[in-house]
Amino acid sequence: MKVLSVVGARPQFVKLAPVADAMSRHSVEHVIAHTGQHYDDNMSEVFFRDLGIPKPDVHLGVGSGSHGVQTGAMLGALDGVLEEHDPDWVLVYGDTNSTLAGALSAVKMHLPLAHLEAGLRSFNRRMPEEHNRILTDHAADLCLAPTERAADHLRAEGLSSRTVVTGDVMTDVCLATARRTAAEKQSRAAVAEGDYVLATLHRAENTDDPERLRSVVEALSVMPVPVVLTAHPRLLARAQDHGIDLNAGSISVIAPLDYASMVAAVQQALAVVTDSGGLQKEAFLLRTPCTTVRTETEWAETVDLRWNELCPDPADIVSSALRVRPNETDVAPYGTGNSADLVVETLASWDR
Ligand code: UD1
Repeated sequence: MKVLSVVGARPQFVKLAPVADAMSRHSVEHVIAHTGQHYDDNMSEVFFRDLGIPKPDVHLGVGSGSHGVQTGAMLGALDGVLEEHDPDWVLVYGDTNSTLAGALSAVKMHLPLAHLEAGLRSFNRRMPEEHNRILTDHAADLCLAPTERAADHLRAEGLSSRTVVTGDVMTDVCLATARRTAAEKQSRAAVAEGDYVLATLHRAENTDDPERLRSVVEALSVMPVPVVLTAHPRLLARAQDHGIDLNAGSISVIAPLDYASMVAAVQQALAVVTDSGGLQKEAFLLRTPCTTVRTETEWAETVDLRWNELCPDPADIVSSALRVRPNETDVAPYGTGNSADLVVETLASWDR
């Protein structure tokens, strides 16, 4: 079996790591195509190096741009790549513009398409990620769902015959990284002494409107404990455009972290405040309470289990972040760490 993975943005490299490892253990021929959506060393290369992912076989070097320009450039470049490699499966990950481009390209070339992390829904049609994931699920021949709830969404949309629940490959990489750093007693440089809140912000709905961004930064700046803000390039760019100083009050801005450092930073934090999808789940897996600065989440299980709280109003961020620690739980809605094997086994056994 020959599988061609299309990736391009930071969370996809994290998901690719356990999948690439499982492909190699199952002797699958695996071609990696990197669109170049993320290109800074600390948004891309560092994940390949640290997570032991083979270097991409193809790099499209597309870079940043408006949604249409970026997605269209990827689509144009992928035709030749898919034609050259002619894989048994094109595998796309998550919900970014790279996902949608890979999906459209595969369908147009009549190549079987599998979508990893299928069935997530925010039910917020203003999010670019929501368009990307719905369009990709409906284009896919095989929807690899991370949870039962995701599979329910796919069933409700008439996609049950193409759906398999494999669990979440991010659980594999998150738990393996936490185990590895503990076993190696790797003392990753602490991002702060004592109690701190770890924060990330990058969603357009929080960064692009100056008033909204100002009020979120203001709320973080009055946190009674230090706030370590790992700043995505989009946040830095928008804050500069809007004339907002991110290093205000309690906030210290640091550059994006490599994966093992991020896992350590989450483990050591008092709380996480974020609008990232993956980080909500990593906080849950590492049992650090999370506050999500959004009106909804695709990872509703974390909210049901009370390890995550939605906080659409920035005025509530401090009280939410410092709330009483939730009850411990051993419920595992995202699988137990063997999902990448299930993904590869499903691809191998599925009747294309
Ligand atoms: C993308 C995904 C989002 C995902 C996020 C993870 C889409 C629609 N969105 O958002 O779902 O959660 O990745 O990070 O695909 N930039 C750099 N260097 C880089 C990458 C980006 O400076 O290596 C800057 C550029 O100014 C760029 C901006 O960040 O215009 C936004 O990058 P882009 O890839 O368009 O979207 P993200 O906000 O990263």
